[in-house]
Amino acid sequence: MRFDVFTIFPGMFTGFLTESILKRAQQAGLIEIAIHNIRDWTTDKHRAVDDTPYGGGPGMVMMAPPIVHAVESVLGQEQNSTPIIIMSPSGELFTQDIARQLACFPRLALICGRYEGIDDRVRIILRARELSIGDYVLTGGELAAAVVIDVVSRLVPGVIDPESLAEESHNSGLLEYPQYTRPPIFRGLGVPEILLSGNHAKIAEWRRMMALCRTAARRPDLLARAALTPRDHELLQRCPPDPFAHQGPVYEGDQLERPEGGEQGASR
Ligand SMILES: C[S@@+](CC[C@H](N)C(=O)[O-])C[C@H]1O[C@@H](n2cnc3c(N)ncnc32)[C@H](O)[C@@H]1O
Repeated sequence: MRFDVFTIFPGMFTGFLTESILKRAQQAGLIEIAIHNIRDWTTDKHRAVDDTPYGGGPGMVMMAPPIVHAVESVLGQEQNSTPIIIMSPSGELFTQDIARQLACFPRLALICGRYEGIDDRVRIILRARELSIGDYVLTGGELAAAVVIDVVSRLVPGVIDPESLAEESHNSGLLEYPQYTRPPIFRGLGVPEILLSGNHAKIAEWRRMMALCRTAARRPDLLARAALTPRDHELLQRCPPDPFAHQGPVYEGDQLERPEGGEQGASR
């Protein structure tokens, strides 16, 4: 999958794209990210990309011509088949569902605004979709575009182990159950004993229950939309009083921190 990003601050993407999973995905040829400097499509000697707003008011507005010319020249024949997205706090809220839709395309164009935003004719001319990453205002669209690239890239086949994706928060329609790893006791907090039992059916049931209970407690809106089985409804009846409180045993005194492989930690 290819991402074309249009920005006046191309340097902002450097560290983000050259580390960890996105770096490996690019090296493996699973994703390609091209950053385009909108100023390269200006025609005046100052390379201006903004001007004062018609009708008055504070700040500056990004002008339509450099952005439209940049997108048209980079996408060429593929403009009609490529989703063009303007990052905007007044856009639709970006969700995992939208990420799944976008991941089906071979190419995506992302336009980053600055200042007071972008001349609205860009949206009309390019038939762009506006996406917001949350109900707050960033100084620019670069972080928002980075969020979209990150979330969509994880859904490109080969980037992440499909088993990891399946149970993650939002992919399954529920928030994820709590996760633990070594050491078995830290600052007096043990791991829920069921996870050390080796009983995979019981572990799966406990995790499902915790996912349901946490979603019910924190995101009832998601639970209302989730496809629940009769067994899920039974599990919801067994929710701990506070599913976000510590769910494992609590130790005191010399048991505060056990070395790896201690009596609680041998099986996992
Ligand atoms: C300072 S903001 C402009 C805010 C604009 N005056 C308004 O009130 O809607 C500059 C740019 O940051 C980006 N931006 C800010 N908040 C965002 C959000 N929540 N989601 C996506 N992009 C955002 C957009 O590209 C926007 O054009």
